Amino acid sequence: MSSMIGNKLKISIFGESHGEGIGVVIDGLPPGFSLDFDYINQQMNRRLPGTNTLSTERKEKDQYKILSGFFEGRTTGTPLSAIIYNNDKKSDDYGERYKLRPGHSDYTGYIKYSSYNDYRGGGHFSGRLTAPLLFAGSIAMQMLESKGMLIGSRIKSIYNINDDNIESVDEETIKNFKKMTFPVISKEKGTLMAKSISEQKEKGNSLGGIVETFIMNVPAGYGQPFFDSLESKLAHMIFSIPAVKGIEFGEGFNITRLTGKEANDEFYMVNDKIVTSSNNNGGVLGGITNGMPIHFKTAIKPTPSIQETQNTVDISSMENTLINIKGRHDPCIVARVLPVIEGACALVVLDLIMERDGENWNLIRQGGK
Ligand SMILES: Cc1cc2nc3c(=O)[nH]c(=O)nc-3n(C[C@H](O)[C@H](O)[C@H](O)COP(=O)(O)O)c2cc1C
Repeated sequence: MSSMIGNKLKISIFGESHGEGIGVVIDGLPPGFSLDFDYINQQMNRRLPGTNTLSTERKEKDQYKILSGFFEGRTTGTPLSAIIYNNDKKSDDYGERYKLRPGHSDYTGYIKYSSYNDYRGGGHFSGRLTAPLLFAGSIAMQMLESKGMLIGSRIKSIYNINDDNIESVDEETIKNFKKMTFPVISKEKGTLMAKSISEQKEKGNSLGGIVETFIMNVPAGYGQPFFDSLESKLAHMIFSIPAVKGIEFGEGFNITRLTGKEANDEFYMVNDKIVTSSNNNGGVLGGITNGMPIHFKTAIKPTPSIQETQNTVDISSMENTLINIKGRHDPCIVARVLPVIEGACALVVLDLIMERDGENWNLIRQGGK
């Protein structure tokens, strides 16, 4: 379903890449919250296509129009809906309806919707649908930030080029990431990554990478055993974003290479707060936040639509054939997915907080400080 059913927040995404428009309905937002549109626009602009040579040449401004749930500058608490009209469509580029793009959802969408799917530009499966998701996420992020919480991400790797390691993370670093179009620690590595994307673009090929995310100042105690653990909630949401192929919390798979003594995050007191000396568990124990930064990494695959000739099947004749994909595609979507991940996880964290602390925003506890 294109609806995310949280315990308090219900979010529905609608639209297709080359249809009239795309949008979102958010139900369950707390009433009386004043929205900062400069903030929302800033977040949306980070995802915008066509802003540099490393992204698709499709130019969409992603200007949203709020249709409901907002009155006299504040949320009303009733469903808040927004629409973004599609302006820069070139559907002729997607003329080969029956030739399935390898790595994309053409085949599975055709089967699932008995051939009635709007295939143009990936239809409902397009990365464009992450614009309304980010709009919703920006509202959640604003609400969390007003209580002292902060979400930030950096590009940890592109293809086989790794950014420098982060020993410990602080708010300043996170705020800096949010100002960068290509957030990395090492300028030099960032340049190498960009170069490598450009090289693949020249060849008509594409690259993927890893996004590393930190959610700071979430107090201990949010998330529920069994099925609503923080990890399961976040993983459900993050895997809903197109092109995501993996997520790991804290040390993730690497924790299997540590002994118990090395893996355990030992506790100690700082003033009146319990903290841990390491964060191998990524800020989550028993599915519940422990007050340390929530830390996870997301694997993004190389953009499936590439210009190189590929083998495929023509589903109208059920014969083997070749495909040469036209259209405007991102040679690497990692930098564009990054703000979407932040917005998406803000929705999850907000939902868990509202579940525990009540729907009324004024009752929600001050974050972590
Ligand atoms: C922000 C964003 C932009 C994307 N841009 C493209 C694109 O230009 N071309 C493309 O083939 N796929 C693009 N994708 C990825 C496809 O939407 C995705 O790979 C496809 O729907 C199949 O889903 P899956 O990879 O999750 O299996 C984009 C995804 C996101 C999140």
